[in-house]
Amino acid sequence: MSGLAIRADLLDFGADPGWSAADDAPGVRFRADHWLLIDARGRIVGAQREAPDASWTRHDHQGALLTPGFIDTHVHLPQLEVIASYGTELLDWLNTYTFPAERRWVDPAVCAAGAATFLDALLAHGTTSAVVFPTVHAASADALFAAAQQRGMRVIAGQCLMDRHAPADLTVAVDQSERDSEALIARWHGRERLAYAVTVRFAPTSTDAQLAMAGRLLGRHDGLYMQTHVAENRAELDWVAQLFPSARSYLDVYARHGLIGARSVLAHGIWLDAADRRVLADARAQVAHSPSSNLFLGSGLMPWRAHEDAGVPVSLASDVGGGTSLSMQRTMADAYKVQAMQHVKLPAWKALYTATRGAARALGLEHEIGSFDAGCLADLALWRWAEGPVATVRDAAARGLHERVFAWMTLADQRNLEATWVAGRARHRAKETTT
Ligand code: GUN
Ligand code: ZN
Repeated sequence: MSGLAIRADLLDFGADPGWSAADDAPGVRFRADHWLLIDARGRIVGAQREAPDASWTRHDHQGALLTPGFIDTHVHLPQLEVIASYGTELLDWLNTYTFPAERRWVDPAVCAAGAATFLDALLAHGTTSAVVFPTVHAASADALFAAAQQRGMRVIAGQCLMDRHAPADLTVAVDQSERDSEALIARWHGRERLAYAVTVRFAPTSTDAQLAMAGRLLGRHDGLYMQTHVAENRAELDWVAQLFPSARSYLDVYARHGLIGARSVLAHGIWLDAADRRVLADARAQVAHSPSSNLFLGSGLMPWRAHEDAGVPVSLASDVGGGTSLSMQRTMADAYKVQAMQHVKLPAWKALYTATRGAARALGLEHEIGSFDAGCLADLALWRWAEGPVATVRDAAARGLHERVFAWMTLADQRNLEATWVAGRARHRAKETTT
């Protein structure tokens, strides 16, 4: 049996396009009006201009835009309900809104329903892979993995570790969380498209004993990821310096416990210095840049060029609920504005590469996600180029390819989405489409 063939304008990247905004920037693969072929196991076979024969199930979306499904490298499972909470910066935001909301996840029924809602929401924004923070409750990680497995999604997550400076019912003692983590690793790590991430909330909510335990877990199991927050907010930085007076920097709190490696995903990374950048670059650890959250919580302007020039991999993240949208187009548009405030221009190519192949590469998953390379799983998102009268006028006025894609990236969101496929299976359809 042949597989599925989708006709659309295909856009992906063969390599990092650098900071060029030229229509023919290196790495850009734009194939206008092509068919993408997907085999019966959900893997990409290739692309061609001619229509495939009738043994293929053909979906004709001529005039729409097909991209790899987006990869959100930092997003919080329990925080849909705290999006758009008024009036605070990070530390007050956690205490006022976020910790109270996370307490509800003690109930496994809340976890199961919440995980399904959350993953369906990602798919409805064209996001097919994510690195996710659940809560301290082992049941929340269990529910997320089970829901991701049902949907065939690539999800990286782990029980959130906190053992101080949070409400008592959101802290778990070191030996208990070590047992919970071991059980979750045994159940989920490496199963189908799932991987476990040792998930340290952030330095202030962990004792040295808990950080040491996190390091032990990473040493004990192959292929684990590590996720945490670092250097997001100035008041947070001052607090970390007080709590860990012998650490050279905030990042060093993690580094000296062996938590920084090629599979480490550090959200924010705004207030890092040159020595921190060297540590991250040497380890190939990535900064998950979360521009929407950084603007909303007034955290600061992430210096993307400085990180990249130092060799630090940068990925893009919604950081919902600090961020205000699950849309990766909204995230990219905010990233453009954060760079513009620093007199740097972020090309659409760089932003889109970072939200697809760049993130896949930083996660060590380039063979599976992030592009239309033959052999990758067909995680795909199909978009209208323009939605509504303003975007339609702007799209029609575009004189070149980069201009058109940049306007799309800046104006589009989930309302442009027609359909999402995961490993070749349709997992979300806009109401009016028949994909
Ligand atoms: N630092 C520690 N926890 C959080 C969180 O939930 N969101 C953000 N943005 N920063 C954090
Ligand atoms: Zn976060």
